[in-house]
This record gives sequence, C-alpha cells and structure tokens, in this order.
Amino acid sequence: MNILAFESSCDETSASVVCAKEEEIVVLSNIIASQISVHALYGGVVPEIASRAHVEAISSITYEALEKANLNISQIDLIAVTNSPGLIGALLVGVNFAKALAFANNIPLIAIDHIKGHIAANYIEHPELKPPFIAFVASGGHTSIIKVNNYTDIETIGRTRDDAIGEAFDKVGRIMGLPYPGGKEMDRLASIGNKDFAKFPSGAIHDDSLDFSFSGLKTHIVNYLHTAEQRGQEISKEDVAAAFTKTVCESVKIKLKQAIEIHGISKLVVAGGVSANSHLRNMLTELANQTNSELYMPSISLCGDNAAMIAAQAYHEYKTGEFATTSLNAYATKVTKKIKN
Ligand code: KG4
Ligand code: ZN
Repeated sequence: MNILAFESSCDETSASVVCAKEEEIVVLSNIIASQISVHALYGGVVPEIASRAHVEAISSITYEALEKANLNISQIDLIAVTNSPGLIGALLVGVNFAKALAFANNIPLIAIDHIKGHIAANYIEHPELKPPFIAFVASGGHTSIIKVNNYTDIETIGRTRDDAIGEAFDKVGRIMGLPYPGGKEMDRLASIGNKDFAKFPSGAIHDDSLDFSFSGLKTHIVNYLHTAEQRGQEISKEDVAAAFTKTVCESVKIKLKQAIEIHGISKLVVAGGVSANSHLRNMLTELANQTNSELYMPSISLCGDNAAMIAAQAYHEYKTGEFATTSLNAYATKVTKKIKN
C-alpha cells in the first residue's frame, strides 16, 4: 500500500510517500522543508512564525513528494498526519491539510503520535525489529524511556522532569554563541574537546525511578559561562561541549541500564533528533555490548523530524483499523485518553 504522510509538529514541514508491504517499508520520497534559518534569527522556534512557514510550504512539498514517488493522489491508499504532541498552531496546519486532502479524495486518514513516529523511524531500516523493546527518545522537546509493548501500544517508564536533552544542548550552544540549533555543532566540538576538564552534575535522578532532570546541569554550565565572562576568562567551547556531552551520555547510560534490568528487556531502540549525536551513539553501542542487548538506531537522516517515520507508524496503526474522521483535532500535549473522532 502507498502511504502519504505529513509532519508539522515543530519547525520542519515534511511530506513523504512510502510503499509498505508485509514487513517492508520502502521510502519513495521524504521531503523536508526546514525552517531553521528563519528561527535562527531569534535563537529558538517562534510558534507563530512556524505556523505561517508550514502554511507556505505544505502544498508545494506535497506535490514534490508525490512527484518524486512517481505517483498521483489517486494511487495513495492511506493518508497519515502527526496530531500530537507539538506546537498547536504548527500541528493544526498539517492536520487540516491532511484532512482536506483525505476527504476530498476519499482516502482513509490516520492520526499519529509524534513520539511513536520517531520510534517507527527504526522500522524502516530494520524490518527485523519487533516489539517488545525499550526505546530511548530524545529530541528538542522530549526525553523519555518508553516500553514499546507492541507497534501501537507504548508506555512511558521514565521521563525528564524538566528540560529535554535537545533543549539543554541548544541552550548551552546558544550561550556559547553557536548557531541555532546548537546540538549538531556541540557534537562536533565535543569530539575535539577534553571531556574531563570539569565535572558537571548528573542528569540521572538519584532514585529508583527512570527519570532525568537536565535543568540543573544546564544551569550549572550557564552559570559557569556567565562567571567566566564577567571575570574576562577565556573558555574553551570544545571542553565545555565535551564535558557536557559526557555528562549527558553518562546520565542516559545509568537510567537505560536500570530500565534494561528492571524490565528484563534486552532490546534497545533509540530515536529523536538527539539520537544523531555521535557520542550518544557510541555510548549506546558500549551499553548494548555490556548488557548483551540488541541495539537499533536510525540513520542520521531519519533521526530528526520527518514524515517517513509518520508513514511507517501509520502502516502499523492501519492494521488496527482506527481511522480518523473530519472532526480530527490537534493536541499540544500527548493524548493519553482515547478521543473518539
Ligand atoms: O526530533 P527533532 O528534530 O525535533 C523535535 O521533535 O524536537 O530534534 C531536534 C533536536 C534539537 O534540539 C537539536 O539540537 C538536536 O535535536 N540535535 C542534536 C544533534 N542533531 C540534532 N543534539 C545533539 N547532537 C546532535 N548531533
Ligand atoms: Zn521530533
């Protein structure tokens, strides 16, 4: 079946066409219109600007996605769209566009949870991956440890109590004058810095929970940078990036190890924009070896927000037969209760 999917939850407008058959999900097109250069001027995503940019991009990227897939709308069997969580105005653009296209062309529509979508990015490249497994999802807005019971049933077993990892990466990067979003450049700097130049507070909460707190780590580094500036001291961005990244990786390792032990599941999946981080990927490989676990990671191009991952999740949701209707809405926070459309 051919699936056309949309993703517009934050600052990327994406449309993708995939062809799904049995275990195989083949990406025919995955067009991403990034708004990063627009938001970079403000050092972060401006929700109103994001919504406008989605409106401007969504039609043309849909044509592009269909054209690249060499299909027309009458050859699409299913339309899917992210409807939560995310920026409400941004989500509404995708939801309304997808609804209009689906109902005008009499194509079934499915609503997708963004986090499930990130996890599903792994099903594209690893068709052998099957639940149950433990997923670590880290992006600009989310940091969670999730027990994936089956393709459509997920359970959050650990989460950040404050900042997401991507948010912390971006904030530290911003204070050091790195271009927005700072995560990618922090990754590069960390590779050449001294990770042991200072010890920073862990983001792993010291208790039996699988929760994190990254605001203390972020504030500690922000204070360190401000103090150095006031004293006119030179700082090494490379060293700060390296020590910060090391602390983040160690924090994640502690809680993932705990999750593997508590839940007795030795299959680990990583997803979300931060999963592109090379140091995190190395740490996860190390952890998988130490715990004798299988490890699945998406390739870098599927880590960030994209519609192919939404299409991949839609393929599995389709099998449950839960379709959306014209009253489908968008939700800024995760929908925990089933809402009848
Ligand atoms: O999943 P995503 O594209 O959007 C959200 O759903 O938030 O994640 C974006 C986040 C940003 O905070 C960005 O700085 C971070 O992922 N990121 C990275 C790297 N590449 C992207 N963080 C650390 N290292 C990277 N290589
Ligand atoms: Zn995301």
